Amino acid sequence: QKLDMELASIEKAGYPHFMLKEIFEQPKAIQDCLRGRLDSTTHQITLSGLEKVKDKLLAAHRIIIVACGTSWHAALLAEYWIEELCRVPVEVEYASEFRYRNPIVGPDDLIIAISQSGETADTLVALENAKQHGATIFGVVNVVGSSIARLSDSGIYTHAGPEIGVASTKAFTTQLAALLLFAIKLAQYKQKIDTATSDTLINELQAVPDKVQEILNSQLEKIKSIAHKYVDAKDFLYLGRGYNFPIALEGALKLKEISYIHAEGYPAAEMKHGPIALVDENLPVLFIATKDKIQEKIISNMQEIKARSGQLIALVSTDDTFVSSMADDSIEIPEAHEIIAPILSTIPLQLLAYYIGIARGCDVDKPRNLAKSVTVE
Ligand code: G6P
Repeated sequence: QKLDMELASIEKAGYPHFMLKEIFEQPKAIQDCLRGRLDSTTHQITLSGLEKVKDKLLAAHRIIIVACGTSWHAALLAEYWIEELCRVPVEVEYASEFRYRNPIVGPDDLIIAISQSGETADTLVALENAKQHGATIFGVVNVVGSSIARLSDSGIYTHAGPEIGVASTKAFTTQLAALLLFAIKLAQYKQKIDTATSDTLINELQAVPDKVQEILNSQLEKIKSIAHKYVDAKDFLYLGRGYNFPIALEGALKLKEISYIHAEGYPAAEMKHGPIALVDENLPVLFIATKDKIQEKIISNMQEIKARSGQLIALVSTDDTFVSSMADDSIEIPEAHEIIAPILSTIPLQLLAYYIGIARGCDVDKPRNLAKSVTVE
């Protein structure tokens, strides 16, 4: 027992919890995911796994992405990225639904499977079924040699390293890095992206580890104080639009898992069709409001919440004093291309959930009722 405890404390490398350690490991984990695949001097992306199924990929009329939990949120963002950059239709499926609903799948389909563990039962069976129908399986997996990795025809390992905390943190941001590499490379293959855009995205992706580090260095104290302010909240709403919508879902999931506060993520405009009924002075509403093409729209959604006395927390681009002055509390995200920014916005949401969870005395590394890998139905 004592030995186990000492071992665990060595493994945590001075951090009080695996979750915090893994949040702080993200600059390195993302760098490890990009290493050898992205060359910012030549602006080349090398993905041997993608090369291997290039013909299938170019012939595919659509891509189906299958996943569960946090990996499903990565899938949703990948849908936005791939459709924008590659102009291929993408469908995102919960593995548990896909496996039981007799989906239309055949040899012309490419299925991307996203799984940290590579052992999630629903994902695995969904893929086995699709494979029997002749589909090609492309795995985006962290654990080398796992069941899903072995079942896949090809794929990309995310190289996040072991993730011990039950709530996914570095596994998620490395999935995003891998999926964005995939999207840019496929767009190049399909000649749907011009050199200037792909060079910009490659440069910005290369800069992500440093920008994540910048958030960890500069925003930590502010996030801790926001966590203390909202520690007794009963509910939380997370809103985002476009590329930030999946991040709003992930932020809400992290808070529920770690602090047991009821939280919902919604596309910001869709809140008018329900969640707005919950808004009063007791409801914290977190907006992802970084600069992008639709920022104006999110600002008007913020005004709607303010008019109903909701507590506004905003993720804003550094120096965006206009949006930060609208909010009760704000967290700054370094300037980034709108395709890249959601990766950065994930970081403060992980930290917010962590510090609220700690303040509520929760077991953040092993939340009640949750499993790291769901290997049964
Ligand atoms: C569980 C974990 C989540 C994870 C999900 C999917 O619910 O607690 O963190 O996102 O399973 O797991 P996978 O290993 O397939 O990504």
